[in-house]
Amino acid sequence: MRKDFKYLSDDDVYVDTSCQSLRPDVVIAVMQEYYHKYNSCGERVKYRWGEIVDGKVDQTRGKVLDLLKLSSRKYFVSFTLNTTYGLNLILNQIKPGEYDAVITSEIEHNSVFLGSQVFAEKHGIARVVLSRHADGSIDMADIEQAVGEYKRPLFIFNSVSNIDGRRLGNLPEIVKYAHKVGGRIIVDAAQAMAHYYKDLRGVEADAICFSAHKMYSASLGAVVMKKDFLEELQISFLGGGMVDDVRADGYDMSYLSPNHIHTVFEPGVQAYAETMALNAAIDWLKRQDTSELSAKSQKLFDWLSARDGVVLINQKPSTVISFYVEKLDSHLLAKALSDQGIMARSGYFCCHYYLDHVKKYPALIRLSLGYHNTDEDIDKILKTLSKV
Ligand SMILES: Cc1ncc(COP(=O)(O)O)c(C=O)c1O
Repeated sequence: MRKDFKYLSDDDVYVDTSCQSLRPDVVIAVMQEYYHKYNSCGERVKYRWGEIVDGKVDQTRGKVLDLLKLSSRKYFVSFTLNTTYGLNLILNQIKPGEYDAVITSEIEHNSVFLGSQVFAEKHGIARVVLSRHADGSIDMADIEQAVGEYKRPLFIFNSVSNIDGRRLGNLPEIVKYAHKVGGRIIVDAAQAMAHYYKDLRGVEADAICFSAHKMYSASLGAVVMKKDFLEELQISFLGGGMVDDVRADGYDMSYLSPNHIHTVFEPGVQAYAETMALNAAIDWLKRQDTSELSAKSQKLFDWLSARDGVVLINQKPSTVISFYVEKLDSHLLAKALSDQGIMARSGYFCCHYYLDHVKKYPALIRLSLGYHNTDEDIDKILKTLSKV
């Protein structure tokens, strides 16, 4: 795979794909093309470059829906800064009185964990935090119990964990149940889109938020939302590119016309080069074969499982593997790995509640693999860990 990442030196072993994946050369080239050939604003200009931008940005919206096998009749795509922004844009604009409970899980990233806390506080509603099985699923009985007497629960779950790659295998069932009880569900797909996007295909959640920078594309976020969910929002984060008219005492919002619905979460000038890059990244991603990546994850998992003194968090191999070594500070270990050119994360990976307060783990090390990683990278990691 190094052929798609020609700029990468063989000495650099980057294993922090969960935070930000490396970009293949083809993705970088798309951004350069924008800067060299049609560097202009979208959405608001009528000149040639701007029309090229609008066309390409629209293609990307279509590409996202196509990847997720969702229909443009029901869904729209808006681009934003990252998953965190997407989630906050939704949660902060939901009208009062829409929901009587928010239900989430203990292994959520802070963007969901904190977002749901503040949402519950602001609306004066209950918040329920469910546990997840070792395989990532949630018991339907637990969900039913959590819903109890609530009339309109809002569910927010990640479909893949950034701690150990656990997957929410029963997501389709949960989505159906959420709708059956009259609620809605938001999916944090930050960790799903690179290697597990097939898990989400055709799953009709009410909103899906993800980060393009975790799926081999440029820094960008996306919100994929059911059009009818917008009825529950009071749009209050406003700016340029969102209105058709502004009067002394009022305004007409562009998102109310079907061709401009995406403007609802796109105030101001947008990241056009990055948006176009996502189109190329999706094409590239669809060409990748996950089997080699799985073999590398398996090798790391098997090796770590067999080591005395290593506490492996993963129950199963995944592209995201976390562990700690007894009596060894993970930050020091990360530094030792870094001295050998291995760039791995240490700490709690923005999952403080679960890792620190539920499990009471010390700081962890996380190795998150990407398509750029070679067999030599894995051997170097194992050799260095052995030495340490
Ligand atoms: C599961 C999960 N959700 C949300 C986020 C937040 O993503 P971002 O920082 O791109 O907003 C992350 C980031 O690591 C994540 O792993």
